[in-house]
Amino acid sequence: MQLEESSRMVQTTSTLEARTIPDSTLGQIHADNPRMKARNVDVFYADKHAIDNISLDIGSGQVISFIGPSGCGKSTFLRCLNRMNDTIDSCRVSGEIMIDDQNIYDSSIDVVLLRARVGMVFQKPNPFPKSIFDNVAYGPRIHGLATSKVELDHIVETSLQRAGLWEEVRDRLDQPGTGLSGGQQQRLCIARAIAVSPEVILMDEPCSALDPIATAKIEELISELREQYTIVIVTHSMQQAARVSDRTAYFHLGKLIEVGDTKQVFTNPLHALTQDYITGRFG
Ligand SMILES: Nc1ncnc2c1ncn2[C@@H]1O[C@H](COP(=O)(O)OP(=O)(O)O)[C@@H](O)[C@H]1O
Ligand SMILES: [Mg+2]
Repeated sequence: MQLEESSRMVQTTSTLEARTIPDSTLGQIHADNPRMKARNVDVFYADKHAIDNISLDIGSGQVISFIGPSGCGKSTFLRCLNRMNDTIDSCRVSGEIMIDDQNIYDSSIDVVLLRARVGMVFQKPNPFPKSIFDNVAYGPRIHGLATSKVELDHIVETSLQRAGLWEEVRDRLDQPGTGLSGGQQQRLCIARAIAVSPEVILMDEPCSALDPIATAKIEELISELREQYTIVIVTHSMQQAARVSDRTAYFHLGKLIEVGDTKQVFTNPLHALTQDYITGRFG
């Protein structure tokens, strides 16, 4: 029976997708206390339909992880949340993404300010070719967040502390950020995002270039940061999603198949496609 069932699932993975993608997302797209609300979001790269009618709340003070096979649109949807897709010429976004009852795609929105409120940490640590201090001070400087050197020093120190890096760099703030180890560079990038007091931090596979020890540090950090920030993380690691997130969203071929409490998604998924992915049958 078990064998029959598993062979049925294996057989169907190649033909199942087109037939069984649900018309609408299974689970609970709503969050009790939403920080951001995406509604009917579609994304095209020229003719390529990369995101197909996704609606999802990002809950305040929570960590939500986006999982799914490569190319299913996780990064594309993440980049919609702070309009990072604006930088891609062929990219067209439609639908609504609200933060505090304001559509971030409104023409009146200041995109630079938006990206301070909704910060981003990338897959490969990308510190500026500047000193450790200047990497963190960069945002506060351009946004005029500090009125004195003392204030700027304070922002830099607290940001590095929150990013769990202060003790390791306090004696060499004037040295280049690029001279740090990969894990330290990624924490520097997190400190840089934190320095402008964001409400939301987007992380696109932030640990995929890191070794297990550096990864564990970042995961620990995410757990601490969740108290103060709303975090959206794309991850290829289901263990990581299970460890760090409150909610999990499963993407498949540009659709949001299901979303729910992380524990439920991993122990009792609502859709066969989610189950196939989390049990390693697909992706
Ligand atoms: N800059 C781009 N130009 C054209 N197509 C893109 C671009 N970025 C992503 N895509 C396409 O959009 C789809 C979703 O990609 P992506 O969001 O990167 O998926 P994921 O992050 O889940 O791996 C893929 O088919 C990918 O090839
Ligand atoms: Mg990606």
